[in-house]
Amino acid sequence: QRIFRVAIDGPAGAGKSSTAKLQVASLLSFTYIDSGAFYRCVALNSLRWHPELFEDGNARHVSLEAPDTRRIIAKVAESTVVKQETERALPGSSAAKGTAPLMPRHRIWLGDDDVSVAIRDNAISRIGSDVAKLIEVREAVGKMQRAAATNVGSRSSGGIVMDGRDIGTHVFPDAELKVFITCPAEVRARRRLLELQKLSGGTGNTESRTTTKLPTYDQVLEGIKQRDVQDTTRAVSPLRKAEDALEVDTSDRTLSQIAHHIADIARQRM
Ligand code: C5P
Repeated sequence: QRIFRVAIDGPAGAGKSSTAKLQVASLLSFTYIDSGAFYRCVALNSLRWHPELFEDGNARHVSLEAPDTRRIIAKVAESTVVKQETERALPGSSAAKGTAPLMPRHRIWLGDDDVSVAIRDNAISRIGSDVAKLIEVREAVGKMQRAAATNVGSRSSGGIVMDGRDIGTHVFPDAELKVFITCPAEVRARRRLLELQKLSGGTGNTESRTTTKLPTYDQVLEGIKQRDVQDTTRAVSPLRKAEDALEVDTSDRTLSQIAHHIADIARQRM
C-alpha cells in the first residue's frame, strides 16, 4: 500500500508545531505523526527510570560523555513504546469547546500513560534535545517513526504528515512532499507560550487543565534559542533544509493560511 508522505521540518515552534500540522493532516484526511514526541518520550523515560543520571533533582541536563550513560539511554530508547492518536473534536464535545472550534487534539501515550502535557515540560524539552544527539537514540527513534508510518499505511489511510528536524533529510528522504518552515525565534517564543497556556487550561478548557507552572516569555525564548543551536550544530542529523524542500516562512501568515498552502501543494502532487 503506497501512502503519500508530507515531511515538515523546521526549528522548534516555527509553526509546524501547534495546530498547523494537525490542520494539514485534517485537510488532507491524513494521519499526523509528531516525530519530536518520540524523543520527548525517551527523555521522560530516561528521567523516570534513571534519575541518578541527571545533574540535580530537577533534571536540568544529562551528561552524555560517559559511555555508560550512552548505553543506558540507548537501552531506554529501545524499550520506549509510544502511541499517538489525533482526537477528532466533534461538535458539542468537551474537546470542541476551546477557542478553536472543531480543532483536533493530538495525544501521546507512553505505555498506558497519557503524557501529552508532561512531555511539553521545559526540562523534558532540554533533555529531549540532549538525547536526540546520540546516534543510538536517533536510530531507535528512526525505527519507531518509520514503523508508525507503516502502521498507518497498513490501515490504508491516504497518507501521513510527519513533522520534525530531519524527516525530509533522514527519516523519509524520498517523501512525496518536503516542506521546510522558517520563522524568527521571537515570533516562535510568543507562539509557544500561547500553546503552553492553552495546554495548561488557560483557555478555559478544563479537561486539559494541569498544575504545571508556566515559564515566562524570556525563559521560552532562551529555551528556543538554545535548542536551535543544539539542533543545527549537532554532529548527527543536524537540522537543515533538504535540497528539494519547499521553504515556507510563517512569520506573517496565520497557522491556518500555512496549513492551506501546504495542503494545496500536496494535492497538486497527488
Ligand atoms: O519538535 P519538538 O520540539 O517536540 O522536539 C523535541 C526535541 O527532539 C527537539 O529539540 C530536537 O532536538 C529533537 N528532534 C529531533 N529530530 C526530530 C524531531 C525532534 O532531533 N525529527
